Amino acid sequence: MFRLRLKNNIIKNSLISANYVTKPPKPEIPTNPLKQIYSANNQTENGIVYDRKPFKMMLEAGKSYQWCLCGRSKSQPLCDGTHKDHYLKITQRPIRFQVEKTKEYWMCNCKQTKNRPFCDGTHKQKEIQEATTIRI
Ligand code: FES
Repeated sequence: MFRLRLKNNIIKNSLISANYVTKPPKPEIPTNPLKQIYSANNQTENGIVYDRKPFKMMLEAGKSYQWCLCGRSKSQPLCDGTHKDHYLKITQRPIRFQVEKTKEYWMCNCKQTKNRPFCDGTHKQKEIQEATTIRI
């Protein structure tokens, strides 16, 4: 009887641990260390939806980048200065950011993330997937 109970417990425990093994680890969402320094990070308005999915990009640690918030840059996901065009009347400014590790990052290209400039999954929302984009 004891052996049977022990055997059942071993099987039960191996099934529980097997469940943990099959679940992939949650991806680490990076943060911008310059967020508290530049007031552009406090802008409440988002830009237009440029794309419905993020863009994977290699970034170097310690190097400063400017992420396009307005969604009109031609060198997405980074700023090319289009927001300065007086005739376009763009109110959003780019987001300056750095990364702590040199590696590939998923950059937000829908311009609606709450973790600027990195993708936080907001692009999966129905209204963004149905939005008219610049890039199709
Ligand atoms: S691309 Fe904007 S949140 Fe993912």
